[in-house]
Amino acid sequence: MSSPVSFAVHDGVAVVTVDHPPVNAISHAVRVGLLAAAERITRAPGLVGAVVAAAGRTFMAGSDIREFDAPPQPPRLAEVVAALEALPLPVVAAIHGTALGGGFEVALGCHARIARADARVGLPEINLGLIPGAGGTQRLPRLIGAERALDWITTGRHVTAPEALAAGAVDAVVADDVLAAAVAKARALAQSGAWWRTSSDRPVPAPPAGFFQSRRAALERRGHDIEAALAALAAVAAAATQPFAAGLELEAGHSARLKASTQSRAKRHLFFAEREVTRIPDIPAATPLRPVQTVGVVGAGTMGRGIAAACLAAGLRVVWLDRSAADVARGVDVLDAIFHRDVEKQRLTAEGLTARLAALTPTVDLDALAAVDLVIEAVVEDMAVKQQLFRRLDRVCKPGAILATNTSTLDIDRIAAATARPQDVLGLHFFAPAHVMRLLEVVRGAATAPDAVATAMDVGRRLGKVAVLAGVCFGFIGNRMFEGYIREAQMLLLEGASPAQVDRALVAFGMAMGPCAVIDLAGVDVSYLTRQGNRANLPPDPRYCAVGDALYRLGRYGRKTGRGFYRYHDGAPADDLEVGELIAAEARRLGVVRRAPDEAEIVARCLYPVIDEGLRILAEGIALRPADIDVVWTAGYGFPRWRGGPMFHADVLGLASVAAGMADLAAALGNAFGYWTPSPLLATLAAEGRPISTWRRTP
Ligand code: COA
Repeated sequence: MSSPVSFAVHDGVAVVTVDHPPVNAISHAVRVGLLAAAERITRAPGLVGAVVAAAGRTFMAGSDIREFDAPPQPPRLAEVVAALEALPLPVVAAIHGTALGGGFEVALGCHARIARADARVGLPEINLGLIPGAGGTQRLPRLIGAERALDWITTGRHVTAPEALAAGAVDAVVADDVLAAAVAKARALAQSGAWWRTSSDRPVPAPPAGFFQSRRAALERRGHDIEAALAALAAVAAAATQPFAAGLELEAGHSARLKASTQSRAKRHLFFAEREVTRIPDIPAATPLRPVQTVGVVGAGTMGRGIAAACLAAGLRVVWLDRSAADVARGVDVLDAIFHRDVEKQRLTAEGLTARLAALTPTVDLDALAAVDLVIEAVVEDMAVKQQLFRRLDRVCKPGAILATNTSTLDIDRIAAATARPQDVLGLHFFAPAHVMRLLEVVRGAATAPDAVATAMDVGRRLGKVAVLAGVCFGFIGNRMFEGYIREAQMLLLEGASPAQVDRALVAFGMAMGPCAVIDLAGVDVSYLTRQGNRANLPPDPRYCAVGDALYRLGRYGRKTGRGFYRYHDGAPADDLEVGELIAAEARRLGVVRRAPDEAEIVARCLYPVIDEGLRILAEGIALRPADIDVVWTAGYGFPRWRGGPMFHADVLGLASVAAGMADLAAALGNAFGYWTPSPLLATLAAEGRPISTWRRTP
């Protein structure tokens, strides 16, 4: 096999080029090739310098993450970087695209770095639960100081070339021909003779007294997901206080330890899952997309506003319809306020604001949707209302326009059946606030055309969302799995836990918010009405969400009424005695014995139903892959990324242990309604000792 690293000589300068599409990830073959090039440079006669460059769209974007699960194969990248740094002539990195992670570490080992103006550099390993492992934590502080280096490493941000230049991480920024500039720089360095002082030779400027201690205390206050950040802190502190070689050794130890950690494996899983989720097995990637430039949004309520804002922010034109001019005008005022806030926060320029508002056409006339490419309906969650609207859209909209519903639960096929073009109908399930939340479920009906699905997935990408394909069922992927989670959270309240105890246990597990706080935010009424819509499928259990129903009857709709599971003062939740009494009364009425469930029980009770329903969803083909479910829950439901999503977490627990836990709960709590009966897929995988990650849908 030919090497992904080539060698040429330009003007007395060796040019070593990595060509390993798509992003020049540093695989074993690249490491071998770079080391061989370094050896060749030492032997080649007449060279005055060397340049490390990359072909294609980017400089090396990091070590090859796909290799991280296997035992490391020599040479380590740290050895390769050391070999380049030790060459007896000046080596210059020619950076275009992104020099990230191991790619930036190679550049840091060079004697100088030239970047194209649109390039970015950075050490984003933290996003994968890792720290740099090839000297990045030691060389970067020597170039830009410990404080800034720690910031770059712990945020993982991609730093622009001008900022990197100002900080001292690159030596020059050029408009276009970065290779020519790097060759010239190598020659100039050779001539000046001042190149030998490598980044590992410099001292680290002393940070202010107490800097590392205060950063450590801040991290420890955060509580979880801090393993990698603490390791980064230790490594940068070593750079500031210990000899280079000792710092390198400490870095290597932490890096190897973190690579094997569950947190890092979880984040790597999500890195690939978020890319895999875009691929739909029966729809080729080359499927021609329907052009989408103008979107009709129907409904100016909360969801409609967020959807319109997301479309405008993505540069789409929006025709915005509601029944009364006053409703649309109120919506426009809200968008205006959202966009002005973006300007205040410098996320949007004044011109950008003007352009967004100019791309918006408010209307009360359905005929105004005649020419739009895509309609997203966000009216009331009522089948009859939606069917009537789709009948009218079918008459008005141009052929080929995609007609999408933002329903969170209703049957897309019944909505599609109201039209004569079910092939153009699908679900686009946004999450509130729709201009902020990353998740978008694209729901494919029985008749939806493949190109309509592919176009919807692409629109999701253009909106900056992570779009996940779901099949038709009540609640699709996310809300369907959420149902058992909420059921158990409320059951625990009847049994004696307070809303704050339930929420605290799940936040300690890592959820962004506890379930009671989430319902208060989304609306106790919304949750109640969703249950009503699903009555036919609910168990005949009088305890089922009895607390939520009682709160609804009292008009305690959550944050928006200042009272729900909690009482709110200036937006801050507080325990409410009245809720405690209400729960106790409900428990008495239902004959539930009160006790004190502990944190471990709360977490298990709420998570097992999520895991089990996920497996049902997979078996039914509602989700394509286990990883898709993990993307839904981490992008839309506040599931901790460092736990990888509910399917990944189930594999960490072990399916046999989940099944055994459910059996224990059945024995302890009774199982009259089948809550603790594992799904057939869970039972099978548990019995076979197989993880979910090995499961594949049989075509
Ligand atoms: N190792 C292995 N594969 C990688 C990779 C890496 N470091 N970086 C990207 N890829 C793969 C992606 O999985 C994707 O593969 P696919 O086409 O089979 O799905 C492909 O390269 C393109 O990546 P993608 O993210 O879709 O392209 P992009 O242009 O949107 O973004 C980057 C490019 C480099 C900004 C982005 O891929 C990235 O952030 N990569 C990780 C960088 C990193 O963390 N480096 C440190 C590693 S320790």
